[in-house]
Amino acid sequence: MVEAVAARRTPRRHAGVNLALGTLAGFTLAQLGLRLWIRRRPIPIPYGWAWLLENPWRRRYRDPRRLADACALRLTDRVLEVGCGSGLFTPELAGRCGHVTALDIEARYLAQTAVKTAGLPNVTLLHGDLAALPCEAGGLDAVILISVLTELPAPVAALRECLRVLRPGGRIIIGEEFFGPEYVRACTVDAWAGAAGLRRVGRLGNGWAYLQTYELA
Ligand SMILES: C[S@@+](CC[C@H](N)C(=O)[O-])C[C@H]1O[C@@H](n2cnc3c(N)ncnc32)[C@H](O)[C@@H]1O
Repeated sequence: MVEAVAARRTPRRHAGVNLALGTLAGFTLAQLGLRLWIRRRPIPIPYGWAWLLENPWRRRYRDPRRLADACALRLTDRVLEVGCGSGLFTPELAGRCGHVTALDIEARYLAQTAVKTAGLPNVTLLHGDLAALPCEAGGLDAVILISVLTELPAPVAALRECLRVLRPGGRIIIGEEFFGPEYVRACTVDAWAGAAGLRRVGRLGNGWAYLQTYELA
């Protein structure tokens, strides 16, 4: 009798394990496919995915306060935050520097940033494309790109454009995270930066979420 019950349970347990393994394999394959596809044809994050930027889990490993501290801005700095998205980091950055220009190619993201920065006198919103920044040359102390560079088809050219708007001695701060489907390893960003004439002067975080600082080589 006991044997008969055990025999009935075992196939069901196997079916459960198989289903779990199949789901895991399917998810992994879908992730790999998505990441390879995005690597070949980078695109800006669709507006409908905005919730991904603000989810509580991301807020933990990309805590806006900690990120803004890690940027080590001075209170007189003029900063350009490229691809500000929903404005998750903009208010914290504004509290640590002289002025922030928050730029995005998607006007609906800028509208969200406007809500978060309402009443902050040192924030300007700018609709524009990183490929041709609507900013004068040499006027900025820092350019910050969090999960943006990898959305561009020509990251090296984008970094050269960031260099154009920086003052001599200014810094470019780049953050990427594994959670983003367009993720690349830190060494890839180093290689892009090197090709643009930059050298890394700082690195924080780990392979899952890093923040790297560059200056003109
Ligand atoms: C993944 S989101 C990151 C948003 C924000 N930095 C964050 O980490 O929460 C990338 C942002 O970059 C913007 N973006 C993509 N390509 C851009 C470009 N060529 N010029 C300016 N912004 C761009 C997107 O519209 C989007 O808001």
